[in-house]
Amino acid sequence: MTKLRWGMIGGGEGSQIGPAHRLGAQADGNFSFEAAALDVDPEKGRAYAQSLGIAPDRAYGNWQEMLAGEKDRPDRIDLVTVATPNATHFEITKAFLDAGFHVLCEKPMTMTVEEGEEIVRLAESTGRICAVNYCYSAYPMVRQMRAMVAKGEIGAVRCVVANFSHGHHAAGDDDANPRVRWRYDPAQAGVSGQMADCGIHALHLASFILGDEVRSLSADFASTVSARVLEDDAMVNFRTEKGTVGRLWTSTIALGRMHGLDIQVFGETGGLRWASEQPNQAYYQRLGGRVEIMEKAESGLHTDAARLCRVAIAHPEGFPLAVANIYVDLAARIRGEARDGLPSAADGLRSMAAVHAAVDSARHEGAWVDARPPMFR
Ligand code: NAI
Repeated sequence: MTKLRWGMIGGGEGSQIGPAHRLGAQADGNFSFEAAALDVDPEKGRAYAQSLGIAPDRAYGNWQEMLAGEKDRPDRIDLVTVATPNATHFEITKAFLDAGFHVLCEKPMTMTVEEGEEIVRLAESTGRICAVNYCYSAYPMVRQMRAMVAKGEIGAVRCVVANFSHGHHAAGDDDANPRVRWRYDPAQAGVSGQMADCGIHALHLASFILGDEVRSLSADFASTVSARVLEDDAMVNFRTEKGTVGRLWTSTIALGRMHGLDIQVFGETGGLRWASEQPNQAYYQRLGGRVEIMEKAESGLHTDAARLCRVAIAHPEGFPLAVANIYVDLAARIRGEARDGLPSAADGLRSMAAVHAAVDSARHEGAWVDARPPMFR
């Protein structure tokens, strides 16, 4: 099978997410890394791309140059990953979809609900794939939990509790750290800080595992570091379309928690628990039974979980391989194969609607508001 050609925008040297994409995209031999505009500084971007093996004429200074350079090439890239700060996602994703490229966009997909709807429509009208990197949904044990819920193995779900709370911005010295500064600057991050940055991962995970969507929510936002305009801590209660009770806590000042993404699902006949810091195990208790540990790559996992396990039982897998699982499904979809579970532009749009609903609710003392995008009501 010939390799697909892949390009990347953002994710330059020293960035947080860049290495995970480069490892993930190239892990299975599906993609070859052919073109890049990696950095906000054109010279640094060109130099770093070439140090990673990109040919000089495809090591671009910015995304506009990359679009112009790629669109008429006979060997143009098949897929572009957008891993720049949030405010740029919409215009870059729109421009590349318009030009007929498949796109994997980092979360949050857009800054507004209207932009999200535009991307969903554009992906539909161009027939291009627009996926969003909700990579936690691609861990094998998350897929196992999703399959167990879908097959009724924990009965009707009563409640889901998700946290994405860490302490990495507890110092409050945002101006001194360029990687933190933009996350609390409304011009670059939008209407929300931590909810848009991390809360949406946990909310997506809840929807993904339940196979159900968020319908309404009530939010309490706090900027516990007083200089911050945007929230660094949020508590969100929600209800799903099927009426399941949802609880979400997301924070950046939670010293003592490290990565801090975990989720529990409580059904009528069983409960499940998973945490990103121990991603190879999920916990399961049947009503009346003991808590059991399910292990990545053990026999008897559901097919969708088993197919995403790479190495033998007890050998850890982790974040870059979860991102790689996103690329495995993207490659399959680009080649015309069906794949369930790839996070889509519709998921990106739902997240934006939930973020804006949470901001609205928090500004109105936690009033319950509709969290669905208008086009899905
Ligand atoms: P970062 O601040 O560490 O790195 C951003 C990189 O993008 C830098 O190399 C910078 O030079 C480059 N850049 C900025 N503007 C650019 C432009 N206009 N054109 C080309 N390159 C540009 O940011 P980080 O943490 O890597 O986040 C990037 C995106 O990835 C964000 O949208 C963030 O929400 C998302 N992210 C997703 C994660 C996930 O688990 N899916 C985890 C971490 C970040």
